[in-house]
Amino acid sequence: MTAYQKLTEAAAFIKKYITHPPKTGVVLGSGLGNFISAITIDTEVEYADIPHFPVSTVEGHHGKLVIGNMSGKPIITMSGRFHYYEGYSAEEVVFPIRVLKLLGVETLLISNAAGGVNPEFKVGDLMIITDHISFATINPLLGPNDEKLGPRFPDMSEPYKKYLIDKAKAVAKQLSIDVKEGVYFGVTGPTFETRAEYKLIRVLGGDAVGMSTVQEVIAANHIGLNVFAMSVITDIGIREEENTITHEEVLQAAKAAEPKFAAIFKELATIID
Ligand code: HPA
Repeated sequence: MTAYQKLTEAAAFIKKYITHPPKTGVVLGSGLGNFISAITIDTEVEYADIPHFPVSTVEGHHGKLVIGNMSGKPIITMSGRFHYYEGYSAEEVVFPIRVLKLLGVETLLISNAAGGVNPEFKVGDLMIITDHISFATINPLLGPNDEKLGPRFPDMSEPYKKYLIDKAKAVAKQLSIDVKEGVYFGVTGPTFETRAEYKLIRVLGGDAVGMSTVQEVIAANHIGLNVFAMSVITDIGIREEENTITHEEVLQAAKAAEPKFAAIFKELATIID
């Protein structure tokens, strides 16, 4: 069975649960799961039940698709994503993104928790991702290309759509929420960076660093989705002292900033076509 056939089978399975096809898809990052409380939920589909979806290897890892509407606007949300560091192949990481496209999604809103390397950032800041740098993250398009999914050599000059960035900035302004903008520097993890690496990332042009998103955004651009992405800054990489970071700290900071993040995503999801 080809990868494309697997994708269409997965999409056909999910379609049975959809009454109003959503044009907007959302990927929720670590600690940002509360967003789903704003959705009027029609159905939830466990990843484990969807044919060919990556199988969770992590104990207590519950992923599901949440299907419903937000202020009347159909929306489909990935609660839980797959990270390369968990042992999934790059192709598995992006499988759900491609399925969303086959379900009719046109715009993808992606979120993540990230470490700040721009010295002006502080914990709890929101950063609209204007561009990214892939640093040793495996490109999910390596290998034979299926033209049904997208072109062999996709353009990446505007991986994060300018018109969506403009809309998000307008929304943030209207809600009086301060947002930063910057370049997301994608790494594999799972180690947090060393002091020297945080410094290097800054020198190389990163404003924030994280372990997700880049592969998803590559596949999303390949298949023709319009992408918007935002990071919640959960820790500051460049600190002179006490530069320790724990996953708990990341989750806590994401949770604290969640209401600001959710307010912007909610508004954005309801105004985009
Ligand atoms: N580095 C990499 N990934 C992260 C970080 C970080 O500091 N914080 C949250 N995700």
